[in-house]
Amino acid sequence: PYPTYRRLRAAGPVLWRDDVFQGAWVLTRHADIELALRDPRFSSQRTGGWVKRIPGVDASLSGRRAQAGLDLFQRLFGGAMVFLDGADHQRVRKALAAGFHPTLIRTLRADVERLTDELLDGIDAHAGFDFIAEVARPLPSRVIGVMLGIDREDEARFMAWSDDLAAFIGALQPTADQLRAAQRSLLQMVRYFDALLPARRASPGTDLVSRLLQAEAAGELRADGELLAQCAMLLFAGHETTRNLLGNGLYTLLTHPDAWARLRADEDGMTLAIRELLRYDSPVQYTGRRVATELTLHGTTLGRGDLVIALIGAANRDPERFADPDTFDITRRAGSHLSFGSGPHVCIGAGLSLLEADVVLRAVLRRWPTLRMLDAAPRWNGIAGLRGLAALPVSVS
Ligand code: HEM
Repeated sequence: PYPTYRRLRAAGPVLWRDDVFQGAWVLTRHADIELALRDPRFSSQRTGGWVKRIPGVDASLSGRRAQAGLDLFQRLFGGAMVFLDGADHQRVRKALAAGFHPTLIRTLRADVERLTDELLDGIDAHAGFDFIAEVARPLPSRVIGVMLGIDREDEARFMAWSDDLAAFIGALQPTADQLRAAQRSLLQMVRYFDALLPARRASPGTDLVSRLLQAEAAGELRADGELLAQCAMLLFAGHETTRNLLGNGLYTLLTHPDAWARLRADEDGMTLAIRELLRYDSPVQYTGRRVATELTLHGTTLGRGDLVIALIGAANRDPERFADPDTFDITRRAGSHLSFGSGPHVCIGAGLSLLEADVVLRAVLRRWPTLRMLDAAPRWNGIAGLRGLAALPVSVS
């Protein structure tokens, strides 16, 4: 996507595109994107309306049941914290904050190391394996599974449901079929969590679902599905993104042998290297906002209700913010990427995903210093918003 971003940036800072979400403003500059993510004139409530304009959806909405199904989807999907504003957003974020406190995340390190070792122990690297299928996909899903307190045997179902949501959320122009699959899978996810609640209420644990139940009992969460909307969001957000940090990260390191060698010699450089990996090839390529109050940006008027696409992937390569932005440099310190967003919605799981990347990349580097790619041009997943590889075949020589 990066040559496209360069072209878009050259075309102007605020561009109207009909081919994105049936019509949206596209932002490419770091400063503008940071503004859109921090300024309350840009609302996070963006799920309504345009879904009905997806070609083919209107026709299928003639029946009352279909309409009710879509309304339920919109409520559950749009009820996730990432799509809330102001006081509602603060209230829900507060209910979850303790579950992501840095001290708590640090205590998870041993769990993440154990889960990583379990996965890596089962791999015969000489025979060759797909890093995405064997490591990048299952590990984050297992970690979020532990945090939510869900059974390992349910993992495959969750990943399939979540992948349907990813295909829908990450499409620049979602199809009616993608919407239907997302609708079905979100409902199944929510039913699954709903069935867990009585037991969790009876004997609460330290998991995130129990925390949300306690918040609900204290009146901090509304009892109209708000809790279930957060569970589904956490499950999805917890692994679709981290998978791509691990996959894109390893791919970038393997295609930059100098960086790989440098990290082998000095593992302490890992923290900075992961920051650069996030900047260089962000797992989340864009997010959206809706204009809450008419405003003017670089001389262009954005009308109330207009959709705005903030191209995080472009912001991270903005030459005004990063010197030599297309160069991957694991010693880069200047400039901060927007891969975790910015402002009130800044990623609550950032610490968790950094921990996972640190554990996995160190483990791979130590175990398999001679790892190499078996396919020079691996396949991408084709999801515009959630950039990641479909497969990354590797082996040790
Ligand atoms: C928010 C990216 C991992 C949970 C966000 C946002 C971004 C992002 C860009 C802001 C969205 C916006 O403002 O519209 C990423 C990336 C990750 C990652 C790149 C991995 C490399 C995680 C993990 C979890 C998580 C592991 C949970 C376990 C969330 C939640 C929000 C969020 C709940 C919404 C926060 C709010 O609305 O206040 N993430 N994320 N993310 N992320 Fe992440």
